[in-house]
Amino acid sequence: MRFRIIGGRRFHNISNSEYFIPNDDEEADRLIRYHDAIKDIWGGLFHSPVEEKLRQGARVIDFGCGAGAWILDMAKQYPNSMFVGIDISPIFPTEFPLNVEFIEYNVLDGLPYEDASFDFIHQKFMAGAFTEAQWEEKVIPEMTRLTRPNGWVEMLESDNFISDGNATNRISKALQNFFTSKGMNCRIGEEIPCLLENTNAFSEIKNKKKTIILGKKGGKSGEETLKFCTAGLSSCRIFLSANMNIMPEHYDALVETFSIEAEKTTSCYNQYRICGHKKI
Ligand SMILES: C[S@@+](CC[C@H](N)C(=O)[O-])C[C@H]1O[C@@H](n2cnc3c(N)ncnc32)[C@H](O)[C@@H]1O
Repeated sequence: MRFRIIGGRRFHNISNSEYFIPNDDEEADRLIRYHDAIKDIWGGLFHSPVEEKLRQGARVIDFGCGAGAWILDMAKQYPNSMFVGIDISPIFPTEFPLNVEFIEYNVLDGLPYEDASFDFIHQKFMAGAFTEAQWEEKVIPEMTRLTRPNGWVEMLESDNFISDGNATNRISKALQNFFTSKGMNCRIGEEIPCLLENTNAFSEIKNKKKTIILGKKGGKSGEETLKFCTAGLSSCRIFLSANMNIMPEHYDALVETFSIEAEKTTSCYNQYRICGHKKI
């Protein structure tokens, strides 16, 4: 069976991946809708100093590209560059420009490219995709292998919710427990610079942190982030309710309160943007 259907949502069925978020049209829409908010929050599509190289013509890969919104924006802006989007699940757009390729592939299997094939490697929101051991033994080594000397890697990650609200704190604790039970780290964004440092292959490693306030208090992007997180939590209902030992219906009510609480109190989380320059 290529996919698993659980609680009316479609999930991948790949044995060496702990990734637990659906891969259906509803999830593709959620990812696409959040793309513009991310651009607003961070003031653009990337922070690494690769603009000139992209204008001239670079080879770029996005690990876990999802519905491909980042790739499509980049390909339009930099027509001389070639873009590859890799994802374990085929939720790619059906129409895309000639300088784009989408490939269904599991990053954990090692990618079908020669060493030093890319000038820029990008990866976003993969904390729930890899265990800590996989980050250290597979993902970072594969990025290191594929990046050309003088090329750049860039990753964007989120951590867990911080709030004055009880429901949000319960969800935050459940997420922490769930991640730990799978060997994953929901605060991996803080650890990535160290993982890059340990390869001895990167210099100029930087980690920029932004705190995102959910809901109206966080402006337009805060409102979008709240919708994105609420929909994301709803899509985890089967796994998280089981982990919390509560009925899925009780979990739904908790997620609704999470959303209401964000407007009544203050709920936030941090995002981390990590860049590293491959040594020559
Ligand atoms: C939270 S989504 C983020 C998608 C995209 N980066 C974005 O920001 O819109 C994580 C994506 O990683 C993909 N993924 C998870 N594990 C993967 C793996 N081992 N190899 C390739 N893709 C993976 C999922 O299918 C999903 O599309």
